[in-house]
Amino acid sequence: MKKLLVLTGGGDCPGLNAVIRAIVKRADLTGEWEVHGSLEAYNGILREPHEIIHLTEEVVSGIHAKGGTIIKTTTKGGPFNWPIQNEDGSWGSEDRSGWMIEELSKLGFEAVISIGGDGSQRISQQLFEKGLNIVGVPKTIDNDLAATDFTFGFQTAVEAATDAVDKLVTTAESHHRLMILEVMGRNAGWIALHSAIAGGAEVCLIPEIPYDIEIVKKRLEARYKDGKGFANVVIAEGAHPIDGSITSRKSEEVGYKNVRLGGVAYQLSSQLKDAGFTHDIREMVLGHLQRGGTPNPFDRVLATQFGVKAMEMVLDGNFGNMVVSRNNGIEVVSLKEATRENKNVDPESYLVNTARGVGISFGDI
Ligand code: F6P
Repeated sequence: MKKLLVLTGGGDCPGLNAVIRAIVKRADLTGEWEVHGSLEAYNGILREPHEIIHLTEEVVSGIHAKGGTIIKTTTKGGPFNWPIQNEDGSWGSEDRSGWMIEELSKLGFEAVISIGGDGSQRISQQLFEKGLNIVGVPKTIDNDLAATDFTFGFQTAVEAATDAVDKLVTTAESHHRLMILEVMGRNAGWIALHSAIAGGAEVCLIPEIPYDIEIVKKRLEARYKDGKGFANVVIAEGAHPIDGSITSRKSEEVGYKNVRLGGVAYQLSSQLKDAGFTHDIREMVLGHLQRGGTPNPFDRVLATQFGVKAMEMVLDGNFGNMVVSRNNGIEVVSLKEATRENKNVDPESYLVNTARGVGISFGDI
């Protein structure tokens, strides 16, 4: 039997298990491939003894409806940045990619499918350049990968965010309050934009359109003046005022290189108070509720399509590429192209125009 290694890297995302299941089922149909999962992305290979599990049909049965990833994931470590502790107790890192590729070959793996976001796919490209037979599958709730129209997990995250808006609207109305909902998305405003439209917020603040606090205040006060007496804001975690920067903090976790966003809802709340907004405000940071739990049917279908196609790319020897969703179809792009740029909300797009058309303010005009 030929051996395939599957791994999930970066932040988790609803639909990862559906991809894993689809890969295993498609591989099983060939009768020639067996699939194994490395635990916590490449860490399962980099650690000794290795942490690898055999992904049989029985193991993946029924997991398409389950959130998270049965083979775990991580945002730390990786073959090019393996954390090592120096003698003085501080932490550094070393490149273990060459060793890892040799180890994979010794273990008999003929191909790897890496399911991950932009950071993970950059690692895939580097490993491909070093000779590894690798296929990429994109994932992120942020929907910010330029090469694909959609990533699985995004629609489920939008569903969670919209559900939060719906709930906050009722409590805002009862108390004549302004509710500020902070959603994820990193430097892209996709989750905020979709949930603001779906939930009917008055203001939507996204990183792509820096806001003017006076304009935001004016729009919100109008809701009280016109007799509605309450209002709802959806703000993306990466949003910032015209003359300000994003709210972030550095993580103390060893090996964690990402900048941690979050807290912008509280920042907006104090900016509004400082600007003279007098109505009661409550803030809500939705956080990881957008990432956990059951994937919705759209994400399960997309994830299954990606999994089947990725396995077929392995069968065709189509390495160094990533599966994507484009124009209602499943296509293949090179990892190089796939990782070239991120996808942000175009302020001139029809979706932004739609939001403006139903009176949503972005705090800019
Ligand atoms: O990229 C996905 C994402 O959920 C972002 O929206 C968010 O900023 C980040 O990951 C949170 O990362 P972590 O779970 O590592 O704190």
